[in-house]
Amino acid sequence: MEDGLQGVPAALDNGCADAEDALPDFFATDFFAEDDEAEEEEEVKSSTKSRKAQKRSERACARAAHEKANTRELRALFEVLKALPAALPGLASEQEAARTLATDSTLADSLGGKGKGKVGKPRNIAPDLEEVESALAAAEAALQTPCPYRSLPEVCGPCGGVEVLASMVDRPPKYQEKYLAQELSLLAKVWALAGGKDDPSRHDEGRLAVIDIGAGNGCLALLAAVLLDAHAVMIDHTLPPEPLRVEDKVPEPWKSLVLRVTGDVADLDAMGALEPLLARHGIRRVIVIAKHLCGVGTDLALRLVSRWCKSSRDGSGSSEAGVTVLGAVFATCCGHKIGEADRQIYSELHAGDSYLMASTGNDAERLQQLLKLCTRCVAWRTTAGAAANRITPLQVRAAELFEDALQQPRLNMLKSIFPSAVEVAFVPQRSSPQNRCLIAGSEAGVRRAAASGEGEAAAAECLAALSAARDKLIAACGGPLDLKPHGFVSSKYDYDGM
Ligand SMILES: C[S@@+](CC[C@H](N)C(=O)[O-])C[C@H]1O[C@@H](n2cnc3c(N)ncnc32)[C@H](O)[C@@H]1O
Repeated sequence: MEDGLQGVPAALDNGCADAEDALPDFFATDFFAEDDEAEEEEEVKSSTKSRKAQKRSERACARAAHEKANTRELRALFEVLKALPAALPGLASEQEAARTLATDSTLADSLGGKGKGKVGKPRNIAPDLEEVESALAAAEAALQTPCPYRSLPEVCGPCGGVEVLASMVDRPPKYQEKYLAQELSLLAKVWALAGGKDDPSRHDEGRLAVIDIGAGNGCLALLAAVLLDAHAVMIDHTLPPEPLRVEDKVPEPWKSLVLRVTGDVADLDAMGALEPLLARHGIRRVIVIAKHLCGVGTDLALRLVSRWCKSSRDGSGSSEAGVTVLGAVFATCCGHKIGEADRQIYSELHAGDSYLMASTGNDAERLQQLLKLCTRCVAWRTTAGAAANRITPLQVRAAELFEDALQQPRLNMLKSIFPSAVEVAFVPQRSSPQNRCLIAGSEAGVRRAAASGEGEAAAAECLAALSAARDKLIAACGGPLDLKPHGFVSSKYDYDGM
């Protein structure tokens, strides 16, 4: 989750902890002969003192030099790049990198792992910058994706929409500042995929629901339900405390539109866990959203959607119970939280992915190695914005590349399920570094969703619908809907709990 990004990985928080490793050692023992006179001893003591002072000063200089040169960060990156050919046979043959593979302990040390002692520890000498740059360029060539992070189109919500949303719900100002633009952008995409408001004339096709996987308090799903006049199905493995649940704050008719499913998406099967519930409410069309489901949660949610869509009997796009998955919107985050067990899940879920197969030569061990490298370094990108971090631009470039590599199989999976799928940046990076968003659905729906937030007819329609929904909600509540987490003090959001 985003909040977890504040922490700086141990390997990255200080460039010079080991700077003294590269310093010459001074051994003073030779000066202490047993039969020295007292006078001589005094001289030796003072000489030792000055040597110690000199040693301290030399260490301080070395530390400063290493800090300035970002030795540790550069070395961490270089060790990762040197380890990559073990995962990418194409890269290995190009670079004859078999000779230069880093040992596991070297790599663990560079990544901030708990390396044992100094065995295998790289010398604290800054790698040659040109060498690192050329290794990174080679990695970029080997792992390239059709649409890397830097070239993702930025597709935000309709202009003026944040103000409308802000007047619709009342939350702590800092919270609003952080989340309104994210919510607006995702709402606009869901709106586009749904083809607009759930017009009663379409009710013979069944009602519409927005299914939010990892819904948390449920703000986004509730807003989608209000905008689209649809149901909101909120899935989460953890039921939020009562004062945080949106369904307990919103009046009818919206209260009854909220349906909760408490369970881990890994264990949920749409046919068993969702379809009976949907059927009871006359829901036959759904859009799945998942905002910032950390790490492999996104992939598990993808699996649910994939299995659900594949359960359709006759290619009609509807499941056995007649539910059509119109589309999906996944805002991904926290690739670094894909730990060892999750990497296994990830590789099973994406087994057969053309990008991964081509990159790793369809070798399971190489895939694990690639995932290990990618997942542990993607946080460089998001940590780069944290206070007092020492992440270098080259590390950020590498992290973007590694995140591209993790994201491509997800996009490929969505393309295999839906007629169309794309990736966009759904808010500006300055607003949230966790701004990657996968959109999938019909060709027309995805085209609408990926159109610019401004100036498009669909965006204007969405804004008008949002304004109308706001007016209706405000009239029913007698003001903006109070979604403040009363009783929950938060220093992060500068909220006193009142
Ligand atoms: C970072 S929060 C995001 C909440 C909400 N989507 C938002 O953006 O405000 C992630 C949410 O996903 C839920 N979650 C994470 N992994 C899950 C899983 N495997 N199954 C169900 N819920 C999960 C967590 O409990 C949490 O509420």
